[in-house]
Amino acid sequence: MKKNLVFALVMVITLLLSACSATEVEKPIVNDDTFVAGTYTGEGNGLSNSIGVEVTVSTEKIESIVFTEFNESDFTVDLADQLIETIIENNVAQADTIAGATFTSRGTLEAVRDALSKAYVDGKEPDYTKIDVDNGEKTDLKNISTDVVVIGAGGAGMSSALVAKNNGAEVIIVEKMPIVGGNTKFATGGLNAAETSIQKALGIEDSVELYYEDTMKGGGNLNNPSLVELLAQKTKETVDWLIGLGADLSDVGRLGGASANRAHRPTGGAAVGGEITDVLYENVQEAGIEVILETKVIGILSNNDEVTGVRVSTKDGEYDINAKAVIIATGGFGANNELVASFVPAFEGYGTTNHQGAIGDVIDFAKDLNVSFIDMEFIQTHPTVIPVKNYMITEAVRGNGAILVNRSAERFVDELQTRKVVSDAELAQEGQTAFLVFDQGVRESLSAIEKYYNKGFLLESDTIEGLAEQMGVPAEQLKATIDTYNSYVANENDPEFGRTNFARPIENGPYYSVEVGPAVHHTMGGVEIDVETQVYNEAGEVIKGLYAAGEVTGGVHGNNRLGGNSLSDITTYGRIAGENAAYYSKSE
Ligand code: FUM
Repeated sequence: MKKNLVFALVMVITLLLSACSATEVEKPIVNDDTFVAGTYTGEGNGLSNSIGVEVTVSTEKIESIVFTEFNESDFTVDLADQLIETIIENNVAQADTIAGATFTSRGTLEAVRDALSKAYVDGKEPDYTKIDVDNGEKTDLKNISTDVVVIGAGGAGMSSALVAKNNGAEVIIVEKMPIVGGNTKFATGGLNAAETSIQKALGIEDSVELYYEDTMKGGGNLNNPSLVELLAQKTKETVDWLIGLGADLSDVGRLGGASANRAHRPTGGAAVGGEITDVLYENVQEAGIEVILETKVIGILSNNDEVTGVRVSTKDGEYDINAKAVIIATGGFGANNELVASFVPAFEGYGTTNHQGAIGDVIDFAKDLNVSFIDMEFIQTHPTVIPVKNYMITEAVRGNGAILVNRSAERFVDELQTRKVVSDAELAQEGQTAFLVFDQGVRESLSAIEKYYNKGFLLESDTIEGLAEQMGVPAEQLKATIDTYNSYVANENDPEFGRTNFARPIENGPYYSVEVGPAVHHTMGGVEIDVETQVYNEAGEVIKGLYAAGEVTGGVHGNNRLGGNSLSDITTYGRIAGENAAYYSKSE
């Protein structure tokens, strides 16, 4: 669909609106004529252009919907069609937005509602904001009050909720997905922390200063130095806190851009994300913190510039939760390709490692407060994601000794460089993908690999030649590449690409390989915060009672986040947000 092209999508709708209504306030669509028959125009706001529709109605039902203006990205066309069908099948105004085309969805819904608002017989217009149609009063399906509301039940949200509760606040977590965990539960490689008790026990030399320097360098020195400084100082406390809650973080390895082994994960190198979300959720439950699932925040309530709670939407309707402080912990927007591509057009159509809920709702629900968003154009790809399947192969595989080769079976980059460097290097290769290659020694060093093996993702051969054949690369060259690499490992010097960390040579069969390429992984930009996690508005003022932590925030990671720094960020700043929100809620 090209710009300025007016096109028509005509759909005959057979569903009576009276069957669509889900709540009391939407019941006016019954009995007598609902619409004044005719064709009505409506307009909504798409990603960056307006969306126009013509809706034709009979007295009882919608007969057709025609797009008269639609200048959205080509890939949203099918999604918009799907949305129209959903609107028809379910309820004209309550259809959910479609992941990956949020702004287009919202614009389409807005346009349809706009048209319908002109079509209703007087007094018949349903009120989707749950205002009582008879007396104009707001219908609160629930009327809940608490000290602190946390939006999002991922790692940042659950960390902040636990600390707020431990600091004497009553806390409710609101999560739009049917399960807790967010992106955190998919994290694999580790949680970066410096000067920890575990590192000391393992004899690993590291320092807070080195952590700071690595993080700043990895972020192109575009990070907020104060946020990084505090993070670097606090990570060891965070590790102790998580261990105290019951987490196993006893294995320590290396991820890209780190000058020391500081990625903490469970024994044997198991995936760390599930461990952390399980432990946090168990503690949240033990603490008696209410977690309300499948409940989406649609607005932050405020009075005289002070936050007073949130408005939520559920399948049963909308209601308010009154609170003295609100913590935003909704994660990033990596799963919203429309939004990602609006900041980095080159990423249009890219896959993602993110869970489907990571679509940047905050932009919408925080807009009335003029929340300041920073660094939104800094979006990161992870370089070892299986194409099409979008399954991330943890950076820890490289950290534990794997190499990357191209279709000529040649290495082309320091595999432990930052994600941007490695992703860019892959894109410069034939086919824009590469092969991870490793041996049984690497497999045995990292139990996270068993999952890839069991899922059938890995090519396997007892010999390098056999593996090369399966990969479709020249066998002699792959053998030569591995021999040369092993000589670098022996000398701890890689004169070709400057790799500085060599966990082990590639020398014991079976040998393994998997094709990988870049996919959107982390959005570094987001809500502007300070070291107390207070949220700022566009005028540079603190929004009283509003805090944020985790991937939803901007500033910690500059233009590129280092592997392992997300978990330390979300748990450390989650804890800080919880403490400050609790304190604020009690000081009023
Ligand atoms: O590759 C990984 O395990 C990813 C880690 C991270 O994004 O921190």
